Amino acid sequence: MTEEENKVLSDIHVSTHYEEVNGANSKKRVVSRFVFTLPISEEIDSDHDENLKDHNLETVLADVGLQIWSGCLLLCDYIIYNNTEFINKTILDLGAGCGLSSIVAAMFASTVYCTDYSDDILDLARENIELNNHLIPDLDNIIEIRKLDWMNWGCVKKENDLSVKEASEVEVFIAAEVIYDIDLTTALFNTITYLLDSSSKTVYISLEKRCNFSVNDLTVVTPAYSHFLECLEILQSNLQSADCRLEYNRVSCDFPQYFKYSRLKELELWKITSKKRYPKR
Ligand SMILES: C[S@@+](CC[C@H](N)C(=O)[O-])C[C@H]1O[C@@H](n2cnc3c(N)ncnc32)[C@H](O)[C@@H]1O
Repeated sequence: MTEEENKVLSDIHVSTHYEEVNGANSKKRVVSRFVFTLPISEEIDSDHDENLKDHNLETVLADVGLQIWSGCLLLCDYIIYNNTEFINKTILDLGAGCGLSSIVAAMFASTVYCTDYSDDILDLARENIELNNHLIPDLDNIIEIRKLDWMNWGCVKKENDLSVKEASEVEVFIAAEVIYDIDLTTALFNTITYLLDSSSKTVYISLEKRCNFSVNDLTVVTPAYSHFLECLEILQSNLQSADCRLEYNRVSCDFPQYFKYSRLKELELWKITSKKRYPKR
């Protein structure tokens, strides 16, 4: 299959209004406008627009971070509705892509580490943060862009890589639409195992359960999702100990929808909590 035939397109771009612009190296890019309404509160304005740059409407699989995915909007809805869980917290966005979930988290958090594995994707996230700087006071000071590659976690650190100290300060991890490939899911869970490190932290993972028809089994299969469920069990058996209680559960997606997208039943949100046990007195 050629690279052109191998391209993937997020559903979001079919229904979201966008404008084409010329990006670096004359590549066509698009700016999408995500309009959302915040719940009425004394502290927050009630309407917001977000402008987000995409690299292209379609990308090869390695560049999926240059598009926005429905699971990201599901996670953003959850953050807005449950914003008290995120207020003044230090948050790390795993596989942040264009940076939308980092920007929404930054409306409430004190620090957000927006992480991904490639310089191109992080550059785009940086541009999106600049583009939305007027919406949230101090946005570019709240969000720190850091490289974090789940496949190379623990290798030689460069200037922009997440430091061990920064990782240890994170209280809540968020990860939108990161479950679509078996090897990447294993690498993501190895990273989460390292990052949780038996301390009290929370992880939110949104995903779209993707089904394929297996010619071998003559049935519909969900390989990445099934592997994700196995990884959750392994994470629990690796981290649950006398010092740490680890729980995971699927979050009910009946919270209000602030962004415009189809909230399909295949969209899921999972919550993992690790709690340090304190010795009984
Ligand atoms: C489907 S996209 C989701 C992007 C964004 N969170 C969203 O929902 O719109 C998957 C993300 O995982 C990132 N990713 C893929 N491999 C990675 C790796 N080895 N380390 C860190 N992030 C990775 C991609 O660059 C991309 O941003």
